[in-house]
Amino acid sequence: FDFARKDVEVGESAPKELLLEKHADYIHAYEQKKDSYEYIMAEFLRMSGVYWCLTAMDLAKSLDRMNRADILQFIKESQTESGGFAASQGHDPHLLHTLCAVQILVMFDAVDEVSSDRIVEYVKARQNEDGSFGGDEWNEIDTRFSLCAVACLKLLNRLDAIDTPKATAYVLSCQNFDGGFGTRPGSESHSGQIYCCLGTLAILGELHRIDADRVGWWLCERQCASGGLNGRPEKLPDVCYSWWVLASLTIIGRLHWVDKVSLKRFILACQDDETGGFADRPGDMPDPFHTVFGLAGLSLLGDERLKPVNPVLCMPEDRLASASIRVQLLN
Ligand code: FPP
Ligand code: ZN
Repeated sequence: FDFARKDVEVGESAPKELLLEKHADYIHAYEQKKDSYEYIMAEFLRMSGVYWCLTAMDLAKSLDRMNRADILQFIKESQTESGGFAASQGHDPHLLHTLCAVQILVMFDAVDEVSSDRIVEYVKARQNEDGSFGGDEWNEIDTRFSLCAVACLKLLNRLDAIDTPKATAYVLSCQNFDGGFGTRPGSESHSGQIYCCLGTLAILGELHRIDADRVGWWLCERQCASGGLNGRPEKLPDVCYSWWVLASLTIIGRLHWVDKVSLKRFILACQDDETGGFADRPGDMPDPFHTVFGLAGLSLLGDERLKPVNPVLCMPEDRLASASIRVQLLN
């Protein structure tokens, strides 16, 4: 065993075809078992969990199997006094949950069912003098929250509410010499943060301001011999990074810089052929988080059984087109 090599094996017996019906059944069952241990454990990220499940179902063309009325009720109950959304009723609001709530509302064509003015007020209040965004009233700063803020406002067609030049300048200040981006200026490059920064710039129409070749190189070097992508040098490949990295490369028009055949084989090998769902790596337990990003990654790779996904907003393109929402991509 080579301890220096951080990678996994894709075994001969691993799934090679997309088990689409099994995934829809897996997600459907997951949302049904509301009393289960897993479901209760996930209360602090319930809103994100609902977004992952619904997006997975919509990409699989099975959104109609989910209970729209119950979910909209849950969303309304999760909106707080401040206008922002909590993970679930009685919890504190956060930009992460606020974006998920807005994404769900757009997928269900139900933005009119909540007060979007109050959402806009909440998001606007998160921006700091230097253009950065705090995640909540405790004001932890992270480029993830820049994406959450601008994505929310884009979906509500209210980008005018914030200082967009400052939001752009802050994100640009987080680009490192290696081409990548981190959580704050000078922080280590990380695929997830790169996705957030490129997504923010795409929404703001400022992608031409970065060195796209340099960040493209950093991203394509994340591909391991197994075909899977990792989040940082020396880390194991993981299906969720098939999304962060692949979506980032798509945003900058460099999807062809990775080997699509081996990546597709890696993602398909992460499916659970008994229960349905995707795991982080072949043979691990599946969960809704890796399931949505597995499906979204395969959609970017052109799988025709799935709806095309938007690389910035991680939502089906048809829902965005219905809401007249478009974002910049490089080609
Ligand atoms: C890695 O997290 C992932 C990120 C830092 C990206 C998170 C992205 C968002 C919150 C925005 C989501 C928006 C959309 C539209 C999908 P990690 O904590 O697992 O990192 P690690 O693997 O290094 O531990
Ligand atoms: Zn993961």
